Amino acid sequence: MDQVTIKDISNYKDKEITIKGWLYNKRSSGKIHFLLVRDGTGIVQSVVEKGKVTDEEFEMADHISQESSIIVKGLVRADPRSPIGYEISVTEIRLIQEAYGYPITPKEHGIAFLMDHRHLWLRSLRQHAILKIRSRIEKSIRDFFDSKNFTLIDAPIFTPSSCEGTTTLFETEYFGRKVYLSQSGQLYMEAAAMAFGKVYCFGPTFRAEKSKTRRHLTEFWMVEPEMAYAELEDAMELAEDLVITIVKDVLSDCSKELDTLKRDKAKLKQIKKPFPRITYKEAVNLLKEKGVDIVEGDDFGGDEETILSNRFGLPLFVHHYPLALKAFYMKGDPKDPSLALCMDMLAPEGYGEIIGGGQREDNLDTLRKRIKTAGLDEKDFDWYLDLRRYGSVPHAGFGLGLERTVAWICGLHHVRETIPFPRTIERVSP
Ligand code: 4AD
Ligand code: MG
Repeated sequence: MDQVTIKDISNYKDKEITIKGWLYNKRSSGKIHFLLVRDGTGIVQSVVEKGKVTDEEFEMADHISQESSIIVKGLVRADPRSPIGYEISVTEIRLIQEAYGYPITPKEHGIAFLMDHRHLWLRSLRQHAILKIRSRIEKSIRDFFDSKNFTLIDAPIFTPSSCEGTTTLFETEYFGRKVYLSQSGQLYMEAAAMAFGKVYCFGPTFRAEKSKTRRHLTEFWMVEPEMAYAELEDAMELAEDLVITIVKDVLSDCSKELDTLKRDKAKLKQIKKPFPRITYKEAVNLLKEKGVDIVEGDDFGGDEETILSNRFGLPLFVHHYPLALKAFYMKGDPKDPSLALCMDMLAPEGYGEIIGGGQREDNLDTLRKRIKTAGLDEKDFDWYLDLRRYGSVPHAGFGLGLERTVAWICGLHHVRETIPFPRTIERVSP
């Protein structure tokens, strides 16, 4: 007797198999019950016919409720009407635990209700598809950097100081001191790049974002590559290749999931190199043409990003923002020191920024001034300044936000569905 998962069912045509799972849905017509059984890898219709199972089993199959755990044994039959091409003709069925009153029924539920039941909502087809794609993207990211000989260096979560400005720090008590949850592993990756050349970290980061938008979480995952002897242009090329790879991998391995989400695949198939590149100044002019009330020196908000990223069917690089808008570590352009050697990548279809990065200030004195101007305490960054004291070189990198990337690839309106258990300004449970 083979123990198989639904994903591999096509290898078992006309053979008897056992599926261990849960009842997803059911319909009955007197002498026959159609059970949709899911096992985490797929859903298969399992047909229970009177006379082919015991009377007790047949009776049980009639009353079994949604999400009860069951084990079915039966013959795999080809069925052209089935979405997976096969169904099971049941010969034996066992109830493991009866689920009474499963709260998420096939009817429509509001988002707050679903979020309160996130621990159960994960079982639904749509959420399952999204998290399968997230998992595939994470693998794609790791494979990409590993294949390019980047070394994975894990950044700490407890940090003594800020990386992306002090306004979004989560503070926590640490044996009589204050420490902060990491906003970004970048500063540590810079240290690691001087030791290993090409490195990346991939983990959760935390921001006390007061903004209640469809793009903001308080805990989100970021992959952050950093390269020694590299400049802005190198970071842009790497970012472009990474995004191309992610899109290609999802299209080839998650076709079924994209269909479940009704994602327009043509939009993803058209993602090709090179991505358009415009300067911040050009972006401002573009926005003005669109009637946006903006002047040079203003930062872009969600609305501006949406307009820009709707303009092209491709991810868009916006580079050379005013240095004054950017974090202390950004390097000024030697050709115009008021501009930063930085870039954002905006995903198309209005998704906005998925990547931020650029070249880092590598001069000790300039960096010290920048720390001071940012109102930060140089003492906190003494270790970081060591990197400019001992063998400083041009270096660059970026951070890609995983949830915003998943939202774009899946075509979701809000990032809350892109992470298994979202944390937002108003939600820390389940
Ligand atoms: O642009 P950010 O702030 O860049 C950094 O943190 C750099 N230190 C990264 C680096 O160069 N190593 O954030 C990078 C990306 C954004 O483009 C966005 O995709 C994501 O992180 N991000 C968020 N995602 C969800 N919720 C939030 N609150 C986010 N804040 C940033
Ligand atoms: Mg940014």
